[in-house]
This record gives sequence, C-alpha cells and structure tokens, in this order.
Amino acid sequence: MNKQTPAAVITIDGPTASGKGTIASRVAQHLGWDVLDSGALYRLTALNALRAGLHAEDVEGVAKVARELDVAFPDGRILLEGDDVSAAIRQENVGNLASRIASYPQVREALLQRQRDFLRPPGLVADGRDMGTVIFPDAPLKIFLVAAVEARAERRYKQLREKGFSVKMTDLLEDILARDARDSNRASAPLVAAPDAITIDSSHLNIDQTVQAVLDLWSKTGGAK
Ligand code: DC
Repeated sequence: MNKQTPAAVITIDGPTASGKGTIASRVAQHLGWDVLDSGALYRLTALNALRAGLHAEDVEGVAKVARELDVAFPDGRILLEGDDVSAAIRQENVGNLASRIASYPQVREALLQRQRDFLRPPGLVADGRDMGTVIFPDAPLKIFLVAAVEARAERRYKQLREKGFSVKMTDLLEDILARDARDSNRASAPLVAAPDAITIDSSHLNIDQTVQAVLDLWSKTGGAK
C-alpha cells in the first residue's frame, strides 16, 4: 500500500439504487471498518442548498454550501447543523438535485478532501460514483456494482415505502434512468468503472450473496491477511 492509502480501502461504485449503500455497510461491518456513503455528502449539500433557497444553477453558491457543510455521522445517523436529516436526504427531490449539483467541478472539489479524511485504520469501505476513479485511485479492491434498471427501481420503491414516502413505480423508473444518464454523461468524474474495477451484477443476487462476493474478492486480493 502506498502513501495515499495508509489504511485498507475497498471502493464500491455504481449507478443509483444498485444496492451500494447496503452492501458497503455490511462489508464494513463484517471487516470491522468504517464506511463512507459519499452520496450522502452530495445529498446534504443539495438539502442545505434547498434550505438556503439557492437556485440549482448557482454554482458558486452551491459550492460554498458544500465547503461549509456542518455534518456529523454519529452511530449511523446523519446530522446537518445538529438536525437529524437521515430520512430527509433520501427524498427523490433531494436525490435529483444532488445528481445535478454533482456535475459541478467546484462542488466535487469542495467535497474531495472531506471524503479522503474518512480513511483511517483499519480500513474503509467507500461507496459512490467516483470512489475508485478519483477519490481512492490506489484502492486494492474496486467493485463496480450494477443491476438491471427494473431491479433497482423495485429496491428503491421498497426502500422509500418503508421510510413512509409515497412513490409511483413509473416515476421512479423515469427518475432512475434520468439520473443514470446525468451521472454517466457529466464531464467531471462521470460514473464509470475504473479500469481495474471488478463488476458485480446483483440483479439476481440477494444481499448476503453480494456481500459474500465482495468478501471473497477481498480475500483473494490478500487483503484479509
Ligand atoms: O448514491 P446516491 O444516490 O445517494 O447519490 C446521490 C447523487 O450524488 C447521485 O445522483 C450522484 C451524486 N454522487 C456523485 O456524483 N459522486 C459520488 N461519489 C456519490 C454520489
């Protein structure tokens, strides 16, 4: 491991609703590592920009919000200026705005070091879009987690219903496709598998099987020694 990765890191990138968050926290739990939900930082920026009444096009204003974000992640909860926003940031309008502002290089730059600061021994499982390509390019194991759009819409539907949000399947499918296109086609750190990433298609795998696949790959890298 080189200077950039003093602790072990596994990156899990992939499109929206591919199950990255769940898989990342299960793998981290299994290994006794920390977890970074990088999407939450973009969602928190979006939520605070909304709260401040900023326009999505106000690049400098949104970047300032990202730079000054006052957040904490105590025992799995997500606090914004001391306020528990764990549920609020999962709303579709927040996710959609997050996807828009994530295309601004100034916002990505503002969040870069904050993400790297999550890396502490013994290790970190980082999930997002550019964990393996930009944030932790030297990670010894990079996963690109994909799933068919229908499977992802179904998972997101269940997730949102469980949180008490009312959603329509057709709207969700549309949103997911639009977000895929935006995340993949933006100029700055687009959603793309790192050349050395291993793709796992979880369309027909359950959570346990997917977690096991990642852990097996980690053992194979020799990292689990
Ligand atoms: O993973 P998520 O749905 O919570 O992420 C919300 C948005 O944030 C997503 O549409 C794109 C953006 N994002 C990003 O650009 N880079 C990351 N590393 C994580 C998320």
